[in-house]
Amino acid sequence: MRKKVIAGNWKMNKMLSEANQFLVETANKVPNNDHVEAIVCAPFPFLASLVEKAKGTSLKIGAQNMHYEEKGAFTGEVSPSMLKDLGVSHAVIGHSERREYFAETDESVNKKAHAAFKHGLTPIICCGETLEQREANETMNHIASQVKAALKDLSESQIAETIIAYEPIWAIGTGKTASSEEASDVCTHIRHVVKEITSEATAEKVIIQYGGSVKPANIDELLAQSDIDGALVGGASLEPESFLQLMEAGT
Ligand code: G3P
Repeated sequence: MRKKVIAGNWKMNKMLSEANQFLVETANKVPNNDHVEAIVCAPFPFLASLVEKAKGTSLKIGAQNMHYEEKGAFTGEVSPSMLKDLGVSHAVIGHSERREYFAETDESVNKKAHAAFKHGLTPIICCGETLEQREANETMNHIASQVKAALKDLSESQIAETIIAYEPIWAIGTGKTASSEEASDVCTHIRHVVKEITSEATAEKVIIQYGGSVKPANIDELLAQSDIDGALVGGASLEPESFLQLMEAGT
């Protein structure tokens, strides 16, 4: 039985005082059991403080991006070893906003996935189709190709520990959620793709999240789908109350 993994992706929101206050209001209240895992993926400048505040609680702190290189002349970048050193446990990789605005490619996503594992971070690898691709019936092929490229040359045990987030681009921040059937079809497809490149046992272990306008009002139905193991949540993860409500759905 896979646990439910609910991750908040704050994107470029909040000030440090607000981020700290969020932790004060939530960290001790996130469930402490084997069924649900709670993660907050915060902007880089907040990570050290949030890791400190989450100590002794079940809340995990993740980054929203990272570079694949270990160190050197990469002005403005943050390495996986820096994140690990801070106590960060997860990193979102290949979010569609990074692919669209910051030239993230399937190749860099794959390099980052390798780098994450090398430094003991769990990657949350995002994939998703545009509205045009959905309307042209290209969703399944596009997702298969993104997933295969992202997981290329990872070992089977690394793939088993990878979190894959299916985020249809047309559903992000639009209030337009994929129906639970649409989300479920693609998440099931992702599990098949993982099975194709590894084995049934490994595919059964992979956590597959849905993301795109998830909120307390729709999370129950999404999590009720057998291949949806959690959610990557933007807007509804910003307020302590709705973040905690999302956790309740997982328990
Ligand atoms: O990574 C989460 C995301 O892109 C979805 O954002 O605001 O639609 O929940 P939102």
